[in-house]
Amino acid sequence: MLTDQFGRTHNYLRISLTDNCNLRCFYCMPEENYDFTPHSKLMQVEEIDTLAKLFVQHGVNKIRLTGGEPFVRKDAAKIIHNLGKLPVQLTGTTNGIRIDDMLSEIVSADFHSINISLDTLHSDKFLKITRRNYFDRVMSNIDLLLTHNIKTKINVVLMKGINDDEICDFIEFTKNNNVEVRFIEFMPFTGNRWTSNQVMTQKEILEIIATKYDFKPLPIGIHDTAKSFSVSGHQGNFAIISTMSEPFCSGCNRIRLTADGKLKNCLFSKKETDLLTPLREKQDILPIIHSAIWSKAKTQGGQLNEKFEKIEASVIQNRSMINIGG
Ligand code: 5AD
Ligand code: SF4
Repeated sequence: MLTDQFGRTHNYLRISLTDNCNLRCFYCMPEENYDFTPHSKLMQVEEIDTLAKLFVQHGVNKIRLTGGEPFVRKDAAKIIHNLGKLPVQLTGTTNGIRIDDMLSEIVSADFHSINISLDTLHSDKFLKITRRNYFDRVMSNIDLLLTHNIKTKINVVLMKGINDDEICDFIEFTKNNNVEVRFIEFMPFTGNRWTSNQVMTQKEILEIIATKYDFKPLPIGIHDTAKSFSVSGHQGNFAIISTMSEPFCSGCNRIRLTADGKLKNCLFSKKETDLLTPLREKQDILPIIHSAIWSKAKTQGGQLNEKFEKIEASVIQNRSMINIGG
């Protein structure tokens, strides 16, 4: 069991396959000429397999592939094939562009669900946010997942003045599409020019939805980061991830491996623990993993403890989101 000093056990591992991406979302990858990690510094296929198996032996039963964009990695198919053989619930977070190319791997690895990051339902705004023109492809790939009965969630990072006018449009989208739309409060990361007044809070989001729709809360599990709601008459539902206004650290069961093989015990942790170097040196990495998890801070990497309105993004020590892996 991978337990921390506050008694939380960690059974959910998020593995970033690459910090590369075929989009350039301004809040995630701040500069156009960001230097991607060279391939040799990334965990290689066998290294991912070895690390994943070790975590599974010690209680991990859910693995999410993230990035950057996990499906741009050339050997993603092989990685998925290997992880598909482990006794875990396999999931992934993707921008959706390569779903059609990867569909057979996704189906044969028996993915439990796929989260697609999509912040707008308008192609011109998609271009502004992502700096690339792939809106139609993402929309048709959402259809493709639904046609194949793959559970699909849509991650919407809400930012005031950018897409807060689309909340009800996303709810409308759930009427005839069996998807969960997850509204995510905008979070500060290195270089993403976050300011607290851009955050749409859970309260504000619910108030807007209540002006048009009848909804009720669905049961919530202790590890859930998202609070889900059903909307009467809709096939799909919606959820809110209130990281900023109502953090949910007490039930946290998540740990992360960055694409270059560093263990992060929290999305907001300053400290990272290199597993790849000692693995390559054939050291026993289990004690390193245990002590990294044991030292996990009680809340938000020990960095965001005050009310979110008071947070100064510039003093937060972290990587950018693309580099951590969502
Ligand atoms: N705040 C909130 N969510 C973010 N994501 C990326 N950057 C941020 C941010 N600054 C989202 C992505 C993806 C998920 C893993 O995290 O859109 O859906
Ligand atoms: Fe790529 Fe996702 Fe970051 Fe956008 S948010 S640049 S899709 S990794």
